[in-house]
Amino acid sequence: MGADMSRPVPKSFHVKSFGCQMNVYDGARMAELLEADGMRAATSAEDADLVVLNTCHIREKAAEKVYSDIGRIVKRAARAEREHRPIIAVAGCVAQAEGEEIPRRAPAVDIVVGPQAYHNLPGLVAEAVAGRRSFDTDMPAISKFDALPKRHRQGPTAFLTVQEGCDKFCTYCVVPYTRGAEISRPWRAIVDEARALVDAGAREITLLGQNVNAWQGEDERGRRQGLAGLILALDGLSGLARIRYTTSHPNDMDDALIAAHGEVPKLMPFLHLPVQAGSDRILKAMNRSHDVAGYMRLIERVRAVRPDIAISGDFIVGFPGETDVDFAETLALVRAVKHAQAFSFKYSPRPGTPAAAMPDHIAPEVMDDRLQQLQALLNEQQHGFNLASIGRRCDVLIERDGKRPGQRIGKSPWLQSVIIEQGPPVGELVAVDIAAAGPNSLTGIIVERAAA
Ligand code: 5AD
Ligand code: SF4
Repeated sequence: MGADMSRPVPKSFHVKSFGCQMNVYDGARMAELLEADGMRAATSAEDADLVVLNTCHIREKAAEKVYSDIGRIVKRAARAEREHRPIIAVAGCVAQAEGEEIPRRAPAVDIVVGPQAYHNLPGLVAEAVAGRRSFDTDMPAISKFDALPKRHRQGPTAFLTVQEGCDKFCTYCVVPYTRGAEISRPWRAIVDEARALVDAGAREITLLGQNVNAWQGEDERGRRQGLAGLILALDGLSGLARIRYTTSHPNDMDDALIAAHGEVPKLMPFLHLPVQAGSDRILKAMNRSHDVAGYMRLIERVRAVRPDIAISGDFIVGFPGETDVDFAETLALVRAVKHAQAFSFKYSPRPGTPAAAMPDHIAPEVMDDRLQQLQALLNEQQHGFNLASIGRRCDVLIERDGKRPGQRIGKSPWLQSVIIEQGPPVGELVAVDIAAAGPNSLTGIIVERAAA
């Protein structure tokens, strides 16, 4: 069945988000919007009348996932002999990048909705019910945020989008095209949403943006503020215990933000600051607009005000033209920085990006080998960072129950998972001594209940 006949109004929905934390945030907002529109969340995609695939376009593998998912949904519906297969909406960055191309490849798709247009989802669903395929990949100047329902339900950790889009145009990256130009949400809207999140149960807020540290705005008194000013304002929210932010660009790491790491008690000692590569030649070809020495200086300055800060990053191996010497420089940078954790990827050519048209693409087996070497080093550093935590006393925010009765899993200030036996309920902060460390998690022994 194509998108050519009318069907019943959907009663239930399922949102599946791929990719980055901003997609997780967008997915949650779409769910709230559909609930406000009278639908209920289905337990799985199989039971849902409407399936929203909130997609990622950053690498080819991520972008291709949506097509296999659509195939699976259609096949499952046929096997279950459902009278109507679910309405299928493709949202997120694949929707933005591929638009009308999507139903050409996957005719079962009813709705294509971009990341700046998902507040229109209810109207698009009504179109689909009427048997019309609908598209909305507009990037309106008016913020979608104003059109979204207020937040009301919230676990202990919440995402809050403060900035979207990117003007940096790294030569490998689709984000400037899929998410548009850098836009900052207004101060008031952010502070209000933060308050609502805390009232609904959040103890930790992670400020999100593709270039979150490029955020700028005016406070209540009309003063220009950067991300540090916003963090300071949130530091004053009673009931909020922790503030984090991600992802940052090295060029937008201003003095005030660095200083905030030494001064703002609620700001957690964790910095995700992607460098991508350790060779100046490759950084230039990537249009990163910072060099290795500049990046190292930044790390030193942050460590000077917050010596225990956990450094995280993103790396791409096998960028066109990357030689063994360039790659060795990446390994050297990693050794110099000493990461608490990091993500690393094989370069994936993306349609329309300048790097895709560059000469000297790297052979797949060379990329595999470099990725393995880099990941081995990063894993070793992560384990080392965890081992160095043994004996530390810190607060842990309990996020969920563990497998065993009474077992709880939470996060340390440095974003490590901490397993605690007979821990307090989800949402509480508890002081622990770190007793053991593995590559991916720590074991904590409760010291005392932290003051709320
Ligand atoms: N190929 C591989 N990795 C990429 N990233 C962005 N674009 C590409 C690409 N074309 C990585 C970068 C970025 C992270 C979110 O994804 O490391 O920081
Ligand atoms: Fe992509 Fe570069 Fe912008 Fe990050 S800074 S979103 S890698 S273009």
